Amino acid sequence: MRLFKHITKLQAAIAEQRAAGNRTGFVPTMGALHEGHIALIERAVAENDYVVCSIFVNPTQFNDATDLVKYPRTINADLAKLYAANCSAIFIPTVAEIYPENASPTPDIDFGSLTEVLEGAYRSGHFDGVVQVVHRLLDIVRPDHLYMGQKDYQQQAIIRYMLEQLSSKIQLVTCETVREKDGLAMSSRNMRLTAAQRAIAPSIHATLTKVAQQMGQDSIQDLEQWGKEQLTQKGFVVDYFSIVDGKTLLPIETFDATDSVVAATAAYLGDIRLIDNLILK
Ligand code: PAJ
Repeated sequence: MRLFKHITKLQAAIAEQRAAGNRTGFVPTMGALHEGHIALIERAVAENDYVVCSIFVNPTQFNDATDLVKYPRTINADLAKLYAANCSAIFIPTVAEIYPENASPTPDIDFGSLTEVLEGAYRSGHFDGVVQVVHRLLDIVRPDHLYMGQKDYQQQAIIRYMLEQLSSKIQLVTCETVREKDGLAMSSRNMRLTAAQRAIAPSIHATLTKVAQQMGQDSIQDLEQWGKEQLTQKGFVVDYFSIVDGKTLLPIETFDATDSVVAATAAYLGDIRLIDNLILK
């Protein structure tokens, strides 16, 4: 496993692989790695000859400055996990390396409502930052395959749309959400939960699962309302609990209205904001 801090050396290593006819898989992360991240690395290792993981806490996607400061940084543990997972290369750039003054601008893509609904409605500018950094990282790594998690459903939908709009040859592989035994979606934020909050946190997945079971029996509005009430009763402060079209992320009237349906929620326990989703159809 090789560690790169500079673009030029990373690109030289990737070019060598490409010249040898090897396929490159890329897993962008912000570190504080858990089994969810490692599942992406393992999938990339299974499907590629060379796997690059980036660890970069991207300042432009944090709409809340304290969230950026509080973001966990566990680099030594991260390196050990990546080594054990057979990752080929780790890219740990500085902010100046990713955002030099002469950087080419992010292409101006009209995402329509994709970036405005759900997370976009609560985290102003967040997806502009995500698009900016993922575009920049892809421009540096130029992988054959990009690996992202379903955990951040809207994020992968936006990046999929970006790649389509740019007619990119990069294939996005979306990997299933990895969960704790009790259903809680793995997240670097989970380590900040108190024991009491941690005990409540699995209700998110439990509620989404019950909604999936009721699909087609109760109306969309009733299920959204019910989901929100369940979480509120448990002690969450809910930003949204929405059942949407899985491609456009727009509200739907009925389950039959589209062939892809996702239930997505974001809710606070104390000052910790958790998100999760379930594909209903
Ligand atoms: P980060 O939160 O570190 O997540 C990196 C990748 O891991 C994302 O694609 C995310 O969806 C995936 N992931 C996180 N938890 C997961 C879980 N429990 N199961 C499966 N996959 C999971 O998402 C980001 O970083 C950033 O926005 C980034 C894309 C790196 C741009 O800065």
